[in-house]
Amino acid sequence: MVENSKVLKGKVCMVTGATAGIGIVTAKALAQQGATVIVAGRNKEKSVSTVDQIRKETGNHDVEYILADLSVQKEVRKLSDDFKSKFKRLDILVNNAGAVFDKRFETADGLEMTFALNHLSYFLLTDLLLDTIKASVPSRIINVSSDAHKGAKINFDDIQGKKKYGAMRAYGQSKLANILFTYELARKLEGSGVTSNALHPGFVASSFGSNMRGAFRLILRFLQLFAMSSEKGAETSIYLATSPDVANINGKYFVKKKEVRTSVESYDKNVGEKLWEVSEELTKK
Ligand SMILES: NC(=O)c1ccc[n+]([C@@H]2O[C@H](COP(=O)([O-])OP(=O)(O)OC[C@H]3O[C@@H](n4cnc5c(N)ncnc54)[C@H](OP(=O)(O)O)[C@@H]3O)[C@@H](O)[C@H]2O)c1
Repeated sequence: MVENSKVLKGKVCMVTGATAGIGIVTAKALAQQGATVIVAGRNKEKSVSTVDQIRKETGNHDVEYILADLSVQKEVRKLSDDFKSKFKRLDILVNNAGAVFDKRFETADGLEMTFALNHLSYFLLTDLLLDTIKASVPSRIINVSSDAHKGAKINFDDIQGKKKYGAMRAYGQSKLANILFTYELARKLEGSGVTSNALHPGFVASSFGSNMRGAFRLILRFLQLFAMSSEKGAETSIYLATSPDVANINGKYFVKKKEVRTSVESYDKNVGEKLWEVSEELTKK
């Protein structure tokens, strides 16, 4: 890599879920462009080997990991504290960690796992780091969502899926929440120099779904034979994190590096505001 491609030299980036799939490719690309990259991982062994791999492949040694199980709010808070104890700026935050769960699980905080991991961790981590992000303008927040949001609703009467749980229902709701959060955050950040955008990576043959069992896993594994690589899947995340073309774009959703419209529900400001309030309530200490 030639020196003039190190356009992110001096920038600090954090990628969650950077120990597999789309996240690791995104983190590597940011390191390749010269940034200091923080790999947020939950597994020490995987985090160490991810950092080693990125350092080796990019020649950039400013790559570190911070451990956190993002489904546990105490750990999200510790991730933020650990980060702030070491870094004074955060130019790019990529909220990427996510999963789908065949059965209803509860987190250590007593919350439904899909909603807690896929949405509340984005919400809480961003909130905790927002002062640092604002102190680093121009800065960017990128939320990895999914076209699985289409057809989903935020079930405020049963947001935790206690009455009725379905893997894709919970997943779709969480990915719609990513978009509602992105748009509401963008409204709050308008004119601040911080942008908030979301994306669908495409259908990617990553480790996604490897925690599932039975028929769902088999079907997903079969379908993944026809899916794109994680390298391809990470392209839109990398584009939103780095391209000058989107430096001033705020509150949009991208697929294949192109701005596209999302579901009708995702543009409902009342739903966005209500979700924000519920998320605040569910993440307060
Ligand atoms: N794959 C697709 O087709 C697809 C399509 C649309 C959207 N997406 C979205 O893309 C994002 C990345 O998915 P992917 O396909 O790259 O999946 P992946 O290969 O399974 O990677 C998921 C990452 O999230 C991390 N993670 C999972 N649970 C965590 C937790 N409790 N705490 C901290 N980190 C946790 C994983 O850590 P470990 O390495 O320790 O497991 C891994 O690094 C997700 O938000 C997903 O919803 C994926």
